Amino acid sequence: MSNNFKNDVLSRRTFAIISHPDAGKTTITEKLLLFGGAIRDAGTVKAKKTGKFATSDWMEIEKQRGISVTSSVMQFDYSGFRVNILDTPGHQDFSEDTYRTLMAVDSAVMVVDSAKGIEEQTMKLFKVCRMRGIPIFTFMNKLDRQGKPPLELLAELEEVLGIESYPMNWPIGMGKEFLGIYDRFNNRVEQFRVDEGSRYIPLNKDGEIEGDHPLKNTGLYDQTLDEVLLLNEAGNEFSAERVAEGNLTPVFFGSALTNFGVQTFLDAYLKFAPPPKPRNSTAGEIDPLSENFSGFVFKIQANMNPAHRDRIAFVRICSGKFERGMNVNVPRIGKQVKLSNSTSFMAEERSTVEEAVSGDIIGLYDTGTYQIGDTITSGKDQFQFEKLPQFTPELFVKVMAKNVMKQKSFYKGIEQLVQEGAIQLFKTVRMEEFLLGAVGQLQFEVFEHRMKNEYNSDVIMERIGSKVTRWVEGDSVNENLSNSRSLLVKDRYGKYAFLFENEFALRWFEDKNPDVKLYNPMDMH
Ligand code: G4P
Repeated sequence: MSNNFKNDVLSRRTFAIISHPDAGKTTITEKLLLFGGAIRDAGTVKAKKTGKFATSDWMEIEKQRGISVTSSVMQFDYSGFRVNILDTPGHQDFSEDTYRTLMAVDSAVMVVDSAKGIEEQTMKLFKVCRMRGIPIFTFMNKLDRQGKPPLELLAELEEVLGIESYPMNWPIGMGKEFLGIYDRFNNRVEQFRVDEGSRYIPLNKDGEIEGDHPLKNTGLYDQTLDEVLLLNEAGNEFSAERVAEGNLTPVFFGSALTNFGVQTFLDAYLKFAPPPKPRNSTAGEIDPLSENFSGFVFKIQANMNPAHRDRIAFVRICSGKFERGMNVNVPRIGKQVKLSNSTSFMAEERSTVEEAVSGDIIGLYDTGTYQIGDTITSGKDQFQFEKLPQFTPELFVKVMAKNVMKQKSFYKGIEQLVQEGAIQLFKTVRMEEFLLGAVGQLQFEVFEHRMKNEYNSDVIMERIGSKVTRWVEGDSVNENLSNSRSLLVKDRYGKYAFLFENEFALRWFEDKNPDVKLYNPMDMH
C-alpha cells in the first residue's frame, strides 16, 4: 500500500447536511464551496436549486438524458482535506433515497434555523444518523436575525433530539444587535461586521478581551461572559471521543448568509470529523485502507425521460482505489462488470472520473445492472456489505393494475421496483390488497412513472394518507386486532406490521394490547 494512497484516504471527509427546508442548507453549502474554491461565485448552488443554472457541459448531458443529478454530490479540496458533501433532498423530493444517502456518509452537519429550533425533517434525518452512530455537528444559523435564546436552543437539542451538546462558541447578541461570537474553542472573539469580514480578538487567560475594547461597553458582552461561565460550570465537557461516537454534538453559532462563523465551523469540523471508517461485511470488517476496491450502491437516480432507460447508480467507495475501466464483481448477480462509464462530482463541472478512493462517491451510468444496496468488489473476495436498513414509511397508497388483463406486467414491475428499494410493499391480511409505503410523495410518482414506462403497466393509486407504522415482534399476532384505525398488514418478508391512524391510535392500542410488542426499526440503535 503506498503512502500516497493512505494519505489520500485519510484526507477524505464525507458528510451530508441535514436540515429542514429553509434552514439554510443551500446557503451554507455555497459558502463551504467558496472556501474550497470549488465555485467562483456565490449564487451558483442556489441557481442550480432553482434550475436556472445550465452552463456547463455535463448539465447539457444531463438535460439530454433527462437525468438531474444536480448537486447530488459536491467535492472540494480545503486545507489538505478532500471534502465530499452529499445532498439530502427535502421538500417534495424527500424520499428513502434521502435516508439512504446518510448510509454513505461518515458524519453529518445539522443546520438549524435559530428562530425555529428543531423542525420535523431535521428530526427524521437526525434519527437515521443516530441509528448509525455517526458524529453530528450542529450549526445554529441566522444569528443575524432575532431567534430563540441560545440556552433554549441547547435545551431543545437535549429534550427534542436527546443528544448532549457542547457549544464551541456562543453568540454575543443576535438580530440587529448581533455583535459576534465568543469562541471557546479558539479562545478568541470573532466580531461580526457587516460587509467587512470577521475580526478576531484574542482572549486573555481569564477568557476575557484584554484592555479597552468597544465591545466591552455593551451589556451584551457581559451577558455572554455570564452565560459562558454557566456553560463552563454546568455544561457538558468537550470530549473528542464522545463526538466521534455521535453522543455529543459540537454546536457552532453563525450566519451562513453573511458568511459569518462558517469558516470557523469548517476548520473545527475538519479537525474532529472522522475519515472513512471500516464497514461491516459478510467477510468481517473491511478496512478503508485495504488495497482491493469495494463499495456499495446507496442510491439510483432513475431517468424520468421515457426515451432513455439509463440511470445513475451512486456508489460509496469503502476500500481501495477506483480506476476507470477496472473490472469488478457484483456478488448479487455473480457477474463481472467493467466500470468504464463513470463520473465524479465537482461543484461546477461533472467530469469523467479516472481515480477515486475510499470515502469518495462515484456515479456509474447504469442500464439496469445495479440495485440499491449492491456491493461491488474487486479482487478475489466476494463479500457483501451489511444490508441497508428498512426505513419506516409514513405515506401509503392502495395500488392496483388499471387493466386487469395486464396483471402479469403489474406483478413483475412491482416485484422489481420493490426489490430495488424504490418503494415498500405491504399486503393487508384480510383482503390481501396491495399497499405501497413511502417516506415522501415523490416515491409514488416515480413508481407510477416507472411502472408505465418500464413495465408498460398503468396503475391506479388510491391515497390512504399518512400512517404511523409499527412492526410486530415475533411471527404471530391475532388478526382480529386489525381495524381501520390499526390496520394489520404484512411486509414483503411476511413480517406483521400495524398501520395506525395516528400517534394517538398507536398509544391507545399499546394500552389495550400490552402483550403485542411493537417496534419502529428507526428507533433502534
Ligand atoms: P435550504 O437550502 O435549507 O432550503 O435553505 P436556503 O439556503 O435556501 O435558505 C433559505 C432562506 O434563508 C433563503 O432566503 C436564505 O437567503 C435565507 N438564509 C440562509 N441563511 C441565512 C442567514 O444566516 N441569515 C438570514 N437572515 N437568512 C438566511 P430566501 O428569501 O428564501 O431566498 P433568497 O431569495 O434569499 O435566495
